[in-house]
Amino acid sequence: MTTTDSTATKSAMAASTAVPPFAVISGAQVQRALHGREKQIVELVEATYRVHGAGDSVNPPSYFLRFPDRPSSRIIALPASIGGDVRVDGLKWISSFPENVKAGVPRASAVLILNDHDTGYPFACLESSIISATRTAASAASAADRLSRHRPRPTRVGFFGVGLIARYIHTFLAGTGWSFDDIGVHDLSADSAAGFRCYLEQSGATAPITVHDSAEQLIRNSDLVVFATVAGEPHVSDPSWFAHNPLVLHVSLRDLAPEILLASTNIVDDIEHCLKANTSPHLAEQLTGNRDFLDGTLDDVMAGRVTVPTDRPVVFSPFGLGVLDLAVGKHVYDEVVRSGELHVVDDFFHEMSRYG
Ligand SMILES: NC(=O)c1ccc[n+]([C@@H]2O[C@H](COP(=O)([O-])OP(=O)(O)OC[C@H]3O[C@@H](n4cnc5c(N)ncnc54)[C@H](O)[C@@H]3O)[C@@H](O)[C@H]2O)c1
Repeated sequence: MTTTDSTATKSAMAASTAVPPFAVISGAQVQRALHGREKQIVELVEATYRVHGAGDSVNPPSYFLRFPDRPSSRIIALPASIGGDVRVDGLKWISSFPENVKAGVPRASAVLILNDHDTGYPFACLESSIISATRTAASAASAADRLSRHRPRPTRVGFFGVGLIARYIHTFLAGTGWSFDDIGVHDLSADSAAGFRCYLEQSGATAPITVHDSAEQLIRNSDLVVFATVAGEPHVSDPSWFAHNPLVLHVSLRDLAPEILLASTNIVDDIEHCLKANTSPHLAEQLTGNRDFLDGTLDDVMAGRVTVPTDRPVVFSPFGLGVLDLAVGKHVYDEVVRSGELHVVDDFFHEMSRYG
């Protein structure tokens, strides 16, 4: 190798291990990057499920920080690493404080840290409640589509628990081509039901909206049921309410008694993740002592390895994978860079010379 070659190689190595600048991305910037891109984000989430299904990811169990003095609250850490085209590592750190809602403050707040693949250096901190709601809604919209391809497409949707996540799911359904003949709403809080109805009317939804006081009536009158409550344990336990075989997006994970899951086709995002933290699938595993009630993952359905029967309810229980936050977060980062509006924090990493 000539001196010139060796110098070029060294400078190429230095460039590839250069520490990236550290940026902070606000919620307003996140929203600008994601607004109106529902189809694109659903495609991104589906591609991420494929990468994860192919094993090109690391997604350890989420860590739940709980507090003896505030039992309804928690903060969850979701570390993850995704390969494929995204190639980024990172951590979502998301709080759930349900009491916030009474004070007019959203339940969940979050940040997402993205770490550089080559150096491990964190290179961005993003507001992440919007990213989290977006990836959750995109996953739900994907499931609604993929799980209804071999059965009559639902025309009557029922939202069970109508906070921020239900709003994002409706936006994603509408943004990916769904329209409904009827929209049902059920919530323990009359204020939430009224707020959601107001959102639906402003969103341009033309279907009649019915607020159901009865959980049973909401379910019996819907062939797509979206659970987005904050229930900590099952409160819907009568399998006969599901006799019309609806498609159920069980996003809040703990609403359904195991008996309902045992009478349904069960699709999850990741089997190991879903069978934890007293989710309804976890309770069904504890009740039966096995995992036979699980039919597969959404990736299995997308790849055609699992077909969904039409003669039972279908329940999609997504635990919510950190790799989805990373993929959507990196997409936001790239968009903000492209727009020329990346706010870099100068000198964030300061001790950069080993011996000073
Ligand atoms: N699986 C995932 O990937 C994922 C991701 C994000 C959020 N979530 C879950 O989505 C849920 C909703 O989140 P959010 O931010 O919209 O919460 P939120 O507090 O804004 O809204 C929840 C609504 O559910 C209602 N509710 C609570 N218990 C109910 C019950 N038993 N019956 C009917 N209504 C009930 C509340 O009154 C409230 O209006 C949470 O459980 C959250 O953990 C899941």
